[in-house]
Amino acid sequence: PLVSMTDMLNKALEGKYAVGQFNINNLEWTQAILGAAEEEKSPVILGVSEGAARHMGGFYTVVKMVEGLVHDMKITVPVAIHLDHGSSFDKCKEAIDAGFTSVMIDGSHHPIAENIEMTKKVVEYAHAKGVSVEAEVGTVGGQEDDVIGGIQYADLNECVSIVKETGIDTLAPALGSVHGPYLGEPNLGFKEMEEIRDAVKLPLVLHGGTGIPLHDIQKSISLGTSKINVNTENQIAFAKVVREVLAAKPDAYDPRTFIAPGREAIKQTVIGKIREFGSSNKA
Ligand code: G3H
Ligand code: ZN
Repeated sequence: PLVSMTDMLNKALEGKYAVGQFNINNLEWTQAILGAAEEEKSPVILGVSEGAARHMGGFYTVVKMVEGLVHDMKITVPVAIHLDHGSSFDKCKEAIDAGFTSVMIDGSHHPIAENIEMTKKVVEYAHAKGVSVEAEVGTVGGQEDDVIGGIQYADLNECVSIVKETGIDTLAPALGSVHGPYLGEPNLGFKEMEEIRDAVKLPLVLHGGTGIPLHDIQKSISLGTSKINVNTENQIAFAKVVREVLAAKPDAYDPRTFIAPGREAIKQTVIGKIREFGSSNKA
């Protein structure tokens, strides 16, 4: 069933595991992620960036596709459809009106006062409809769709203010993670993570989940991280397998013959992540 993130993340915080947000790009991506979550009996968050939503036709198409798959695949685990890095109130509203059960308003590229103001407006609209809200403070490095930036650590006081003044359900404090592959090992601010957890008492989100070693994932979870976002790792797994199949069968043209193996690669990658995050059998 489609639900907001609120319950899943509060349970994850209490149970010391994390729920994965896996970004979707198309039908096969969605099948792979839903199938993996169902097999693992894990709650799951389908992340949809504005660019990916555009690629798939729009927010309404995304919701109908997910609803259709949840029905046809007989999915029983909790599923959230979450706008990833929403850029404005209007975009969040559009997603909510189309049936998204959760949104992220990413005001992190604005001054904190503006970030708080736009986040507050989104929370008011979202909560009236039972939709959960994630906000971001500081800057995740690397590139995600239209959003590009360098790393800037979240400030503790800004984290406290945004939580107090807006009533968000979950907070993504940028603490050294990047979107896309890491150059070497990530250098996450665990001390800051702990301070923020103690001050805001909300489940925290870790963006840039691709390439974070298991020991850092476990440490993050022990310090209050209850949601971990993964996108690039599935893209790499898909592209690798599709390339291999096409190289081995240069005359292939039925798309199903090379997309299905790519879909299976995504599913196996997601199953691996779910196990690392400890959310198996938590549905
Ligand atoms: O919001 C999406 C994630 O932060 C994805 O990061 O592509 O590095 O896994 P990633
Ligand atoms: Zn992100």
